[in-house]
Amino acid sequence: PIDPMSVTFRSATGGMSPSGPVLSRRMSDLEGLFADTAAWQEARDGADPVVYEVASSPVPEAPGELPQSITTIHPGAVGGEFHMTKGHQHPNPQGEIYFGLSGTGGLLLFDGTTPKWIPMSPGVIGYIPPGWAHRSVNTGDEPYRFLAVYPGDAGHDYGWVLEHGMGWRVRRGAGEPQLVPFQSEPV
Ligand code: PA5
Ligand code: NI
Repeated sequence: PIDPMSVTFRSATGGMSPSGPVLSRRMSDLEGLFADTAAWQEARDGADPVVYEVASSPVPEAPGELPQSITTIHPGAVGGEFHMTKGHQHPNPQGEIYFGLSGTGGLLLFDGTTPKWIPMSPGVIGYIPPGWAHRSVNTGDEPYRFLAVYPGDAGHDYGWVLEHGMGWRVRRGAGEPQLVPFQSEPV
């Protein structure tokens, strides 16, 4: 265990102070995620933009601890599909709490049978029950940022999402974001 501590959220950057590791995911790190492979390749071979960043607190991923992280998903879409995180399942099934900090997005959940969508904005608490894979999506035109708090021994299984999908894809629509079946071809 580590000592009691406070962490300051840097609202200008989405960083934490003191900070643990900061992770940056570029388009080239997101192979196989977006339905429109040609559009993904074009973005990767072009500017290869940073799609999202994850700043972690110094709390370790260890049993009994509650690590926190702040994710910032930059706005944009690939072939009409909104920028999103890779998404994962916790191999040690345990719950997780998200808290919306800025921007507009959503939490896509999938238990292997039924997809669920929780719209996220500042002040909204999104709850992820044990056994639900989760992915975050920026549905707005500014950075979408949220805090995550999770059990330190929950783990991250990214292969599960590549194998099972997430039930829905989240696409740019005329007004509200469109939730379309995962297998569907790009419009
Ligand atoms: O703990 C979480 O669920 C989040 O902090 C995510 O890890 C973060 O949003 C990045 O998503 P992913 O781990 O699916 O790339
Ligand atoms: Ni998680």
